[in-house]
Amino acid sequence: MATRGRPRPWKMLALVMLVGAALIAAGCTRGSEEEEAAKAAFPQLEGYEAMKIPSDNPMSAAKVELGKQLFYDRRLSGDGSRACYDCHLAEHGLTDGQPTAIGAYEKKLPRSSPTLWNIAYHAEFYWDGRSPSLEAQVKGAWSGGNMGASGQDGRPSLEDICAQLNEIQGYRRQFQEVFGGPATPDRVAMAIAAFERTIVANNSAWVRFRQGEPTALSEAGRRGGEVFKGKARCVNCHDGLLLTDLQYHNTGIGWDPRRKELADLGRYSVTKNDRDRGAFKTPTLLDIAESAPYFHDGSVATLEEAVDLMLQGGKDNPQLDRANLLPPVELTAQERADLLQFLRELSVDYTIPRPIPPQ
Ligand code: HEC
Ligand code: HEC
Repeated sequence: MATRGRPRPWKMLALVMLVGAALIAAGCTRGSEEEEAAKAAFPQLEGYEAMKIPSDNPMSAAKVELGKQLFYDRRLSGDGSRACYDCHLAEHGLTDGQPTAIGAYEKKLPRSSPTLWNIAYHAEFYWDGRSPSLEAQVKGAWSGGNMGASGQDGRPSLEDICAQLNEIQGYRRQFQEVFGGPATPDRVAMAIAAFERTIVANNSAWVRFRQGEPTALSEAGRRGGEVFKGKARCVNCHDGLLLTDLQYHNTGIGWDPRRKELADLGRYSVTKNDRDRGAFKTPTLLDIAESAPYFHDGSVATLEEAVDLMLQGGKDNPQLDRANLLPPVELTAQERADLLQFLRELSVDYTIPRPIPPQ
């Protein structure tokens, strides 16, 4: 037959398409299952750019679990009194409810505990941004006043604490599994940083609202959001989904008008740039109703007072950020109430169950 042996292009094409479609379909299901599993283990903030994960500290479920246990474990501190979590508590919006924090050995620290919501989307850490990575920040907090494992004045060093962790069977096994060796200060920092990268505020009315669900916020909350954006221009600094521009601004907190000086130089201590005197990183306002007292020095007890201070345009001082803070904003009683309602609806449901410390 004349046609036998002749290629039948449409049949070939159909076959190729069928096989192709089957491969794609198989790939897709596998892909989406993996994606779902990854999403559960390492949530990404919905509606935001992808989180930057350092290439030398990739995420894994086992590492996050280990980091979570370490974050909650008081045995990390020099005197066994405090875990990271003790100053970043769920019931206080991941802060500690104190004006300024009190570290291990009852050391009084100069600043207040900030919240950790969406912290992995920051590029610089602390109120003054002096720490360049989450990993570095862990070692700073752990060996510094917060956790007190300084290795000085008879206090245990990070190495001493790691030696103790390596005596705990559960930890020894997990460090072996995750890092292929025993606990070291760097590995502890890597595991805790990996856990911190999962502290993402998807479980909030704010994120649902931004994802296109208008009724996630109440009517008053939505009106307050308009005031926040519009008349009060809070978004000049508390910008976008994160509610922070991640920049440093002087709002006059800590300025002593009598002595004409700042109690804390803030960002200036890092940059030595005069413009940065008294400038602090814009905090997110997620969980703000839970995280009183307010500001880097915990100097304001209530949300109403904190908001009024911002509405006044901060506290006058030579470096006040007049470009972004407005001259006193006059709101009607209704607008002020709506603004406060909006802020109160920025709460986040904390869904991380407390881990059992390994023995
Ligand atoms: C005694 C209370 C206390 C303990 C314990 C503590 N912190 Fe903090 N944390 C603070 C305070 C206070 C600051 C702000 C310090 C500053 O800005 O100078 C802070 C800041 C941070 C920041 C930076 C947040 C930002 O917005 O830049 C991170 C991240 C953090 N802590 C994580 C940890 C981890 C991880 C641990 C355990 C290794 C820990 N904290 C232990 C009080 C504490
Ligand atoms: C110039 C930028 C800027 C503008 C505009 C601004 N803020 Fe802030 N806000 C900051 C900074 C920076 C801080 C931290 C100041 C400090 O502690 O020294 C802050 C702190 C706060 C706090 C306390 C947060 C905490 O965790 O302690 C609240 C509440 C707040 N702002 C609400 C508002 C509201 C409401 C508006 C609009 C009326 C507003 N802010 C406008 C920069 C700004």
